[in-house]
Amino acid sequence: MTEHSQNLQSFWHWAWQRLARGAHERTAPTRFVMLATQDQTGWADARMLVLRAATAESAQITLHTDAQSPKIGDLRADPRCCLLAWDAEAQLQIRLRAQARLSQGSAAEWSALPDAGRALYGGCPPPGTSLPAPEAHEIAPDPARFACITLIGEALDLLHLDPAGHRRARYLRNAGWAGEWIAP
Ligand SMILES: Cc1cc2nc3c(=O)[nH]c(=O)nc-3n(C[C@H](O)[C@H](O)[C@H](O)COP(=O)(O)O)c2cc1C
Repeated sequence: MTEHSQNLQSFWHWAWQRLARGAHERTAPTRFVMLATQDQTGWADARMLVLRAATAESAQITLHTDAQSPKIGDLRADPRCCLLAWDAEAQLQIRLRAQARLSQGSAAEWSALPDAGRALYGGCPPPGTSLPAPEAHEIAPDPARFACITLIGEALDLLHLDPAGHRRARYLRNAGWAGEWIAP
C-alpha cells in the first residue's frame, strides 16, 4: 500500500501535486488533460488541453484556449464541466467536476508566450469552421482571442490503482473538501 492513498488528506494532496507537476513540466503525465462539456444540442463533448495551473487551496485549474473555439460558446451556455486526468506513472485517475469561469488571458501571460504559442490563439477562420482545403487557414495571433478557462472545482473523485488494493475517494466543496472513501 503506498503512503499517498493511505489517508484522505494525503490522497487529496498527492492528486493536486500530480496536477501541479503537469502544469510545470512538459513531460509530466498530467501535462494534457481532458475537458468534457455539453454542447448546445445536449451532446457530450470532450477534448485534450494543456494544463496551465492547478491550485489545491482553491481547488482551481487553469486552461487556455482560442476565445472563438466552440467550447467557449458551450461553456458560456452551460459552465458545468468535468476535467479528467490519467496519471499513468502514479496509476491515478483524477476527475474534477467544476464550474467554468471564462476570462481574457492576461497581457503578462501573452507577452511571455513564444511565437508558436501565440499562433494557437487567433487565426482565420476560427476553430471548427469548414475549410475548402486544409491550407485555407491563416495564422493570425490575436491577444483578444487568448482566453483563459478557470475551473472552480465542485467535486473531486480520485481512483488509485494500487496493486495492494484499489482506493477511491470523493471530496465535495460543499462538505469543506473533507472527503470520504467510496467503493472503487
Ligand atoms: C495533446 C493536445 C493538447 C491540446 N492542447 C490544447 C490547449 O491547451 N488549448 C486548446 O484550445 N486546444 C488544445 N488542443 C486542441 C483541442 O483538443 C481541440 O481540438 C480544440 O481546442 C478545439 O476544441 P473545441 O472544438 O472543442 O472548442 C490540444 C489537442 C491535443 C491533442
